[in-house]
Amino acid sequence: MINTLLLLTLVSAASAFHLFEKDEFHFKSWMVQHNKVYTMREYHDRLQTFTENKRRIDKHNEGNHSFTMGLNQFSDMTFGEFRKSFLWSEPQNCSATQGNFLSSNGPHVDSIDWRKKGNYVTDVKNQGGCGSCWTFSTTGCLESVTAIATGKLVPLSEQQLVDCAQDFNNHGCNGGLPSQAFEYIMYNKGVMTEEDYPYTAMDGTCKYKPERAAAFVKEVMNITAYDEKGMVDAVATRNPVSFAFEVTSDFMHYQQGVYTSTECHSTTDKVNHAVLAVGFGEEKGIPHWIVKNSWGSSWGIDGYFLIVRGKNMCGLAACSSFPVV
Ligand SMILES: *[C@@H]1O[C@H](CO)[C@@H](O)[C@H](O)[C@H]1NC(C)=O
Ligand SMILES: *[C@@H]1O[C@H](CO)[C@@H](O)[C@H](O)[C@H]1NC(C)=O
Ligand SMILES: *[C@@H]1O[C@H](CO)[C@@H](O)[C@H](O)[C@H]1NC(C)=O
Repeated sequence: MINTLLLLTLVSAASAFHLFEKDEFHFKSWMVQHNKVYTMREYHDRLQTFTENKRRIDKHNEGNHSFTMGLNQFSDMTFGEFRKSFLWSEPQNCSATQGNFLSSNGPHVDSIDWRKKGNYVTDVKNQGGCGSCWTFSTTGCLESVTAIATGKLVPLSEQQLVDCAQDFNNHGCNGGLPSQAFEYIMYNKGVMTEEDYPYTAMDGTCKYKPERAAAFVKEVMNITAYDEKGMVDAVATRNPVSFAFEVTSDFMHYQQGVYTSTECHSTTDKVNHAVLAVGFGEEKGIPHWIVKNSWGSSWGIDGYFLIVRGKNMCGLAACSSFPVV
């Protein structure tokens, strides 16, 4: 009897998904805003996915959370589709267990934002449908470290890393790690500019020209796994830092505020996305990182997000690194 009741409840819950006129209205205005065009058949699938996402977003925003969710360019995708296009498909051997960065325990500033300290951070870029986040984390970090050292901020080539860094355990659009990409740039003796080696969002053959090398790496600093204080030290006293973490379905809808999740894991073998910490601070008493993403400037807070600091949230302290130039 109890089982039958349970089953009936489940069945009615599953069939309770109704589309209303207003859902279609929201979907159509979102389509216009994002220049989306579908075939008839696709339209209905996308409408359903969009509506499911929108209901999740609305429900989240009614709750008491430190961040809000919102519609964005990914709102017609299931998380499975999103993961396939934008995240690493397999673990990236992120395991610099004992790093070579010797951090001090401070005292440190309470907050820092390298975007405000000078012309040290390039505009937010867009990786498109290629799991190349690691190349953007790498160029973003090297661009900033180079600008802090030389006073010149020059966008660097992700495509060179996609096409040429395979020997260092990187896999183009299928993933890689900033620490391994820094190693590649160090041994390769340089990386070209974005302008000279533009981004295509596809795997290609290596077209590196040594005479056009524009930025260099002398040494790679790995921060010891799970040493989030070491990350704070590095960002406070040196420069922005590349790190990886696990993106789960809630993150795809992030809009603003301090992200925190109960869905994600915190170990080295689960991280699936690499980004760049450009600073840290505190909002409403919650310490956070300020992070540059590579999903374009219309995602999140003008392309950035805040994530809670001090808890190894989603494994963000599992593998972080930066280059010395
Ligand atoms: C919302 O959450 C915060 C932090 O967890 C808590 O301090 C606050 O009391 C909560 N407010 C409500 C209305 O539940
Ligand atoms: C991880 O390391 C193992 C052993 O060195 C290797 O076989 C595997 O291809 C690596 N995986 C990735 C994604 O680099
Ligand atoms: C830093 O990490 C990379 C791989 O993640 C590794 O190849 C390199 O040897 C490490 N460097 C040091 C100095 O530990």
